[in-house]
Amino acid sequence: MKRDPLPVVTLSWARSAAGAIAREDGKPLLLSGRESMMLTHRLRAAHDAILVGIQTVLNDDPLLSVRLLPGPPPFPQPQPVVLDSRLRFPTGARLLAREDRKPWIFHAPEAGAAAAAALKEKGARLFQVSRGPGGLDLHETLMKLGAAGISSLMVEGGARVLRAFLAAGFADQLVVTMSPSTVQGMRGPDMPGCVESLTEAHGADSVTWGTLNP
Ligand SMILES: NC(=O)c1ccc[n+]([C@@H]2O[C@H](COP(=O)([O-])OP(=O)(O)OC[C@H]3O[C@@H](n4cnc5c(N)ncnc54)[C@H](OP(=O)(O)O)[C@@H]3O)[C@@H](O)[C@H]2O)c1
Repeated sequence: MKRDPLPVVTLSWARSAAGAIAREDGKPLLLSGRESMMLTHRLRAAHDAILVGIQTVLNDDPLLSVRLLPGPPPFPQPQPVVLDSRLRFPTGARLLAREDRKPWIFHAPEAGAAAAAALKEKGARLFQVSRGPGGLDLHETLMKLGAAGISSLMVEGGARVLRAFLAAGFADQLVVTMSPSTVQGMRGPDMPGCVESLTEAHGADSVTWGTLNP
């Protein structure tokens, strides 16, 4: 049977009750308790790759690895993927220091050759894709990920990337953790309010929810 060339996409984010996913200045907000962190790591372990936008790398310097689950970490770890049209990816980022999985960086055709060479030297794999509305072309990105063997993709943020996947209709599942905190800040892709308004906005047809301990 012919495999669908596009990976299955799960969008996931943590938000406050007021819809914030980060501080206004982009600094991280502590929105997740132990159980929701573990949920995120279980989700990571269940996907072939984890994608974020370059601004999340610049602001948070994430590792995007599975670390919090009991037992040995999954092997291989999910593949980290970054959307970075202009190759602003810092060569000192923690993702490039990982021994097990070097990041895959998607960039636009006009990105600088010197930046590309420096990132390749550090072990990153680069993929050139066309520009689309609001950034890199997401359909082409997903096609290239599928061709590289990625069948399932978790998109972790930030706000612009999540909005772009929702707007393009590339969201098979949403997993949203909502903190009771009413802190304001950088708005995520959804409106403040209850689970129903979130699912109505995105046309979800099968919805479950539960409570996680802090
Ligand atoms: N609470 C959570 O669950 C969570 C999770 C992750 C991140 N965050 C927070 O999110 C914040 C960053 O969010 P952000 O919205 O500023 O940035 P972002 O979504 O991380 O990155 C956006 C950048 O990605 C690049 N990009 C390339 N193709 C794109 C496309 N098709 N659509 C959208 N972007 C594309 C663009 O930069 P170029 O034009 O340079 O390519 C764009 O400016 C961080 O402060 C982080 O703390 C929160």
